[in-house]
Amino acid sequence: MKGFFVTATDTEVGKTVIAGAIAGVLRKQGKNAGVYKPVQSGHVAGHLEGDAARLKALSGVDDPLDHICPFSAEEPLAPILALRRAGKHVTLGHLKHHYTRLKEKYEYMIVEGAGGLAVPYVEDGLVVDAALMFKLPLLIVARPNLGTVNHTLLTIEFAKQRGLQVAGVVLSGYQEETAGIAEQTNPDIIHSYSGVPVIGVIPWITESNQSEYVLSAVEQCIDWNQLRIL
Ligand SMILES: Nc1ncnc2c1ncn2[C@@H]1O[C@H](COP(=O)(O)OP(=O)(O)O)[C@@H](O)[C@H]1O
Ligand SMILES: [Mg+2]
Repeated sequence: MKGFFVTATDTEVGKTVIAGAIAGVLRKQGKNAGVYKPVQSGHVAGHLEGDAARLKALSGVDDPLDHICPFSAEEPLAPILALRRAGKHVTLGHLKHHYTRLKEKYEYMIVEGAGGLAVPYVEDGLVVDAALMFKLPLLIVARPNLGTVNHTLLTIEFAKQRGLQVAGVVLSGYQEETAGIAEQTNPDIIHSYSGVPVIGVIPWITESNQSEYVLSAVEQCIDWNQLRIL
């Protein structure tokens, strides 16, 4: 299977935006790409502001929301907690079972995790365990500003320690007007300390609720040649 497991250094960093837009750009290029959000907390799968609906809108796939996201809970808590409190006991095996349905349909899968790699995810694993199970290389979304080097290097180190292949880092939300020395130097510093390339710096998109603007920014700002797995 080709594709990526998209994680981030934290929650609310840009995983959904980047994952959905990568799938959307691939589909625009004529590639058969699907999206999967195994577990979503904060909104039930059918909610229009939830990740499943946003992934669907950005990518343009026609799968029902409960196929894109089979396990969801309303409370904005760590997935394992939100699921348990909703009376759901989900395991890695469940996530794999629902992945199979999409895997058969698509040539590329873009899978979005939740929060970061060490987030308690399901009964028998953290997000990192799901990433390993899906056997997809990791794409790490990080913030562009001061503090991101620490969070990104920690994420890369943990991923490598657990045997994941790290394809690259994408920085999301770069703001030209306020960017200083940290924002300008962070991509090279991350690369030099980790050996992992920063394959894109995505600007802050004011019209982020309009898919065409998001897709166009991601298409222009990601170095697609560096995403060699595709
Ligand atoms: N490059 C960007 N430009 C504009 N808004 C962004 C960008 N990246 C992320 N956002 C916004 O930041 C918030 C968090 O992004 P999201 O993709 O939902 O993060 P995550 O999936 O990591 O929790 C959302 O409101 C999203 O629209
Ligand atoms: Mg998300």
